Amino acid sequence: MRIKSLQEYQEAYSLSVEKPEQFWADIANEFDWIKPFTKVLDWSFDDYSVKWFEDGQMNITANALDRHLKTIPDQAAIIYEPNEPGDEAITLTYRELHTRVCKFSNVLKAQGVNKGDRVCIYMPMIPELAIAVLACARIGAIHSVVFGGFSAQSISDRVNDSQCKLVITTDGAVRGNKTIPMKETVDDALLSCPCVETVIVKIRTKTPISMLKGRDLWWEEEEMQASGICAPEAMNAEDPLFILYTSGSTGKPKGVVHTCGGYMVYTAYTFANVFQYNLGDVFFCTADIGWITGHSYLVYGPLLNGAISVLFEGIPTYPDAGRFWDIIKRHQVNIFYTAPTAIRSLMGFGDAFLVGKDLSSLRVLGSVGEPINVEAWQWYDEKIGKGNCPIVDTWWQTETGGLMISPIAGITPLKPAFATLPLPGVQPILVDENGNEIEGNGVNGNLCIKYPWPSIIRTTYGDHERCKTTYFSTYPGLYFTGDGCMRDEDGYYRITGRVDDVMNISGHRIGTAEVENAINMHTGVIESAVVGYPHDVKGQGIYAYVICEHPTINDELTRKDILATVARVIGPIAKPDKIQFVTGLPKTRSGKIMRRILRKVAEGEFGSLGDTSTLLDPGVVDSIIKGAI
Ligand code: WTA
Repeated sequence: MRIKSLQEYQEAYSLSVEKPEQFWADIANEFDWIKPFTKVLDWSFDDYSVKWFEDGQMNITANALDRHLKTIPDQAAIIYEPNEPGDEAITLTYRELHTRVCKFSNVLKAQGVNKGDRVCIYMPMIPELAIAVLACARIGAIHSVVFGGFSAQSISDRVNDSQCKLVITTDGAVRGNKTIPMKETVDDALLSCPCVETVIVKIRTKTPISMLKGRDLWWEEEEMQASGICAPEAMNAEDPLFILYTSGSTGKPKGVVHTCGGYMVYTAYTFANVFQYNLGDVFFCTADIGWITGHSYLVYGPLLNGAISVLFEGIPTYPDAGRFWDIIKRHQVNIFYTAPTAIRSLMGFGDAFLVGKDLSSLRVLGSVGEPINVEAWQWYDEKIGKGNCPIVDTWWQTETGGLMISPIAGITPLKPAFATLPLPGVQPILVDENGNEIEGNGVNGNLCIKYPWPSIIRTTYGDHERCKTTYFSTYPGLYFTGDGCMRDEDGYYRITGRVDDVMNISGHRIGTAEVENAINMHTGVIESAVVGYPHDVKGQGIYAYVICEHPTINDELTRKDILATVARVIGPIAKPDKIQFVTGLPKTRSGKIMRRILRKVAEGEFGSLGDTSTLLDPGVVDSIIKGAI
């Protein structure tokens, strides 16, 4: 399973294209199966359906935990670095993690959670978040982790969409010098979630909270009473493992569904190869478990490989901008995986925070979530990697489950800001607007994938049609990523960003429609249009054009009210960076907003607005330009 040279990569890649079933069956057979599979793949991108290892049975936690008890029971599995730098880090060995997962599995069972039931997890980055995730997987419950920064409204939308019967949370959370309510937010959310029968609360901040009789339970009390023995549930490879909500061009976030077998095989394989993980290495992924990166490369991928995974509760700038570097030194981190936003932000603090920080344990650096600009890439390479650590710029998506286009550390020759080459099993193709393949090198197009890989999205929860139309109808017969991409003269891929109405704000995916809907909920707002614009640190910022009913008396206050509304409806991460009040929006005669123009204005490019002759009222554009921020 382990690629050790460029030639081995090329051989693996060729085999994965010529004999994909044999290629993946060999890798899958390295895992423990309760019942071996005999069928490897069944698929159609036309009437979308993909099944990997369909008749096999397994449990991902038996592979991520039990399997290692024979070999490395006392090795660290998770190192928890708390928010306060003075608080001692806590290590959970594989044996300890196994026991705690088994106990919590029994807690869930005692509450009547059965295989196939949905469980919502809304927690800060503490070990119990990983434990809750793994306990669900162990008993076959489908976890739906909701990022701890989302609002009550977002939680209730997600809980109702997948009809969760149990929610796991904490009293509060600490991030930097802020204490954030968690249970209170869940309480607000659950006012409109009749499907939820039970809430389990882990104490983190000792914040006073209300505990409802008959519904709310303390994690500590339940865990204490539970047995540490729990056999893993036999799961069919195609049984759902989890749902993770993510934003698209239209409507509310959709629940991306991943299944047990393919996801296990693909995350484990990509983790081992891309990062060139060696047993005993300390791996530090800074993503929150509330996002796909945390699912695949903080929890599942590392644990499936018997890795040591650092779980950090805090933020990169607390107590100062040297925090990551302190953690790297303290835990002798060998592989560090973060987002370009974090790199750019820390770069902005200058090199003072690097003085005296021993980063010599580092061997591999990774980047994920958004395009990395050359300047940030070079800073990362020189200041953090000291020119000695390959940077793996990993391109992938919530829907792909695992890394897709990425260098293999130390093996693939690098080019700054390029995701380089497809991993084995990944068959990218660039197409033009009409879906025609763009062949050759030195070209640009829309990035699609033409063959299934084991951790491809299986469906969007409760709405398979939506999955089909979102990903498989734009270009029939292809999975459409939503990304634009160039392939240079050497056949290297560089992702240029979304070509749809999805923004990437600090590596977080947010739909323009979602933000517009939230803004429009504010009283007095008639209409709004939202676009992304280039932002030095966040990659993209959110620019909102808003029409108010009464030209406002106090613009500043209205702006703040709108921000508060968005924070309440979605969460603080979706707050616009700029709000421009306008009296009209550039619309075509058929009433469609011409976002192209709004994007240009937001970028400050007033001279190159293109053809505006189809606008209903071209005069609108001049007034928008005059008021541009
Ligand atoms: C973007 C995050 C450039 C891309 C794992 C994709 C990237 C979206 C990269 C998915 C990268 C992710 N270079 N762009 N290395 N990685 N993206 O679902 O636009 O939160 O479609 O998954 O992030 O975001 P998601």
